[in-house]
Amino acid sequence: MALKQGKGGLAPPFLVMDVITAANARQASLPAGAPKVIRMEVGQPGSGAPAGAVAAAQRALSAGLPMGYTEAFGLRSLRERISQHAVSWYGVSAPAERVAVTVGASGAFPLAFLAAFDRGDRVAMATPFYPPYVNILEALGMRPVMLPTGPQTRFQPTVALLEALDPRPDGLIVASPCNPAGTMLAPDELAAIARWCHANEVRLISDEIYHGLHYGQPIASAAAFSPSAIVINSFSKYFSMTGWRVGWMVLPEDLVRPVERLAQNLFISAPHIAQVTAEAAFDCTDELEANVAGYRRSRDLLVAALPGAGFARLSPADGAFYLYADVSDRTNDSRAFCARMLAEAGVAAAPGVDFDRIGGDHFLRFSYCGPEADMAEAAERLSRWR
Ligand SMILES: Cc1ncc(COP(=O)(O)O)c(C=O)c1O
Repeated sequence: MALKQGKGGLAPPFLVMDVITAANARQASLPAGAPKVIRMEVGQPGSGAPAGAVAAAQRALSAGLPMGYTEAFGLRSLRERISQHAVSWYGVSAPAERVAVTVGASGAFPLAFLAAFDRGDRVAMATPFYPPYVNILEALGMRPVMLPTGPQTRFQPTVALLEALDPRPDGLIVASPCNPAGTMLAPDELAAIARWCHANEVRLISDEIYHGLHYGQPIASAAAFSPSAIVINSFSKYFSMTGWRVGWMVLPEDLVRPVERLAQNLFISAPHIAQVTAEAAFDCTDELEANVAGYRRSRDLLVAALPGAGFARLSPADGAFYLYADVSDRTNDSRAFCARMLAEAGVAAAPGVDFDRIGGDHFLRFSYCGPEADMAEAAERLSRWR
């Protein structure tokens, strides 16, 4: 008997998750007292939710608040805080009616893709890219279109690259700061892309999950430049709340009801307790900014030390907590290179093939959101290993 299986189940693995498994196995195999594996493969802040947010969660649970479903778009009070956040960070009006709370940014992607596109539609993005963009689009029968970017465009799309596409795509995904390269679009570049998309009826999806994690560059939201853009954000990175699984979208007027219908059916709501916690995280600026200062110190240390350790060609470290290293002078198999680095230097990093199926064998991604002392130790180990 051959039961039918859906093609969606053929989505490739998110390889970083496999590296995490390998790093865990390596750690477990080490004798007691041996130097631990340094974790630079995963983009997960080690700091946990800010203390004020955890306290709010504890208060809500002690008060016996029933943690039920919320409205599909989330607690009204949280949506209003997100709306205020758009005003205070970007000077942008994003009324609570257009804010949808989601199950992380990950939960926002299928909602956005299904509301904006049909099967067979073409959605462009820069290569290298965050792998789930492609894997979710393909699982939904949509077609990713890769824009070949590199250091010359800071691994970001440009209007010229979009103009060169024939036929025009139905959508474009941008991320600034981006994963894996950690590079940003300047506000005027984002504005030009957003306006081009609006004028050409290309639906722009702007993944703003790394906002707040940038080191001197100005930041802008696509919502400032386009009435048709979908903005996606999350409490996972700046707010340090990965496991709470809360994100949000700022929706264009025409997609509010379509996304709401999808959210009601697909997710019902984001977890209630996590929404309470997320709302309180907006009041934890001091702690969150202290985290950012720590990332900045690690970034500065690694940018100074890695070239001497044989990683001379690093992407400009504008934001997020990633460095994308061109290792073409050391390998043409980034997976094997990362495996060897883990085994011999005890440093785990993500191979570029996860983010770029064609050129990725020449790159690897270091994530520097782990403890600062670990980042310094990684720099030393890699210098000795070279
Ligand atoms: C660019 C980008 N978008 C979205 C996500 C998913 O985040 P969330 O935890 O909010 O689902 C990640 C996670 O690493 C990411 O790097």
